[in-house]
Amino acid sequence: MIEDMLRTPAAVQDAERHTAHNYHPLPVVISSAEGAWVTDVDGRRYLDCLAGYSALNFGHRHPALIAAAHAQLDKLTLTSRAFIHDQFADFCRELAALCGKDLVLPMNTGAEAVETGIKVARKWGYQVKGVPAGQATIVVAEGNFHGRTTTIVSFSTDDDARADFGPYTPGFKIVPYGDLTALADAVDETTVAVLLEPIQGEQGVVVPPTGYLPGVRQLCTERNVLFIADEIQSGLGRTGATFACELEGVVPDMYLLGKALGGGIVPVSAVAADTDVLGVLRPGQHGSTFGGNPLACAVATEVVRLLATGEFQRRSTELGERLHAGLHALIGKGLVAVRGRGLWAGLDIDPALMSGREACERLMERGVLAKDTHGSTIRLAPPLTITAEEIDHAVAQLAAVLAG
Ligand SMILES: Cc1ncc(COP(=O)(O)O)c(C=O)c1O
Repeated sequence: MIEDMLRTPAAVQDAERHTAHNYHPLPVVISSAEGAWVTDVDGRRYLDCLAGYSALNFGHRHPALIAAAHAQLDKLTLTSRAFIHDQFADFCRELAALCGKDLVLPMNTGAEAVETGIKVARKWGYQVKGVPAGQATIVVAEGNFHGRTTTIVSFSTDDDARADFGPYTPGFKIVPYGDLTALADAVDETTVAVLLEPIQGEQGVVVPPTGYLPGVRQLCTERNVLFIADEIQSGLGRTGATFACELEGVVPDMYLLGKALGGGIVPVSAVAADTDVLGVLRPGQHGSTFGGNPLACAVATEVVRLLATGEFQRRSTELGERLHAGLHALIGKGLVAVRGRGLWAGLDIDPALMSGREACERLMERGVLAKDTHGSTIRLAPPLTITAEEIDHAVAQLAAVLAG
């Protein structure tokens, strides 16, 4: 009876009716949120353990970010880069300082930051390294996820992401992730960059072997190749450090940032690098109407200031230990493997028990939202504002789901 009165089933159908089916969402229709919790159209509350794939590192509607957005909405929202606005300089200076780089180039989505990185690396290759025209190559890793543009899917190894979207962009070499020998063999005089996620998020939070990232750094330095770290999902506090590369003491030549940079309010992405790299761009060679707009800059500056306190990185380290301890205790009780760093975990469920999708559906029924990836893997990436009690709650619900 009560089930008949719920608004969710009709709202789910409505949401499907006039949209392309390029997603397969869980059947939950969210209407409001605060911190680590979301509420659906029927008033049911869920602990958000996906956090917009790390776009909500500071939780839903963080007060400082909402205040920055409100204040900016009342003043100025868009100018285009044809003019300079008063939020631009602070954002660029403070983000560059956070990254330890000279310059930043703001864009909107993560894929645009990746495209920007590719274009800059190629131009650097021709103009600075001296690669013959049209021959630049970029080495990437198997299992990568860098976004959805036609160039980016050209070097995806995921058939769903790539098939039937050709013809593909040439100029990429794919090597196994975590294999330094294969990487060294792939680099030659035409190589302008190595593009990697320091931890592969979509692949299931895959952490490379210790020493891999420092090895990549050394190889790139020795062979005059740019090391581009896609920190769009791994960066900005998620792993317990500002950048996942930091966990191995590595500084790439270029950071690609997105997701959490927009504070869960607006899409903001950026490339950060030194002048000898980003300085290759001249007026008219790259841009975006919305990139670096006043609203985006106001919110993202506040994001950078939150990160500059170190509080979120600390929370991710400390609470991440609790999360991983809780999850490791479930190995052999339905989980076969747990990976990750900080408040970021990839869990492999025993495929004999259930699929990742099934586990996420059952977690949803128990008031916890998470997302499956690749068959029997689930990703957990709660807001970095989550409390110890909330982590224990999520782990307990997972344990109950696995226990059947
Ligand atoms: C590592 C990485 N790079 C790039 C992207 C693409 O970002 P966007 O979806 O904002 O284009 C993603 C998105 O999941 C990502 O995880």
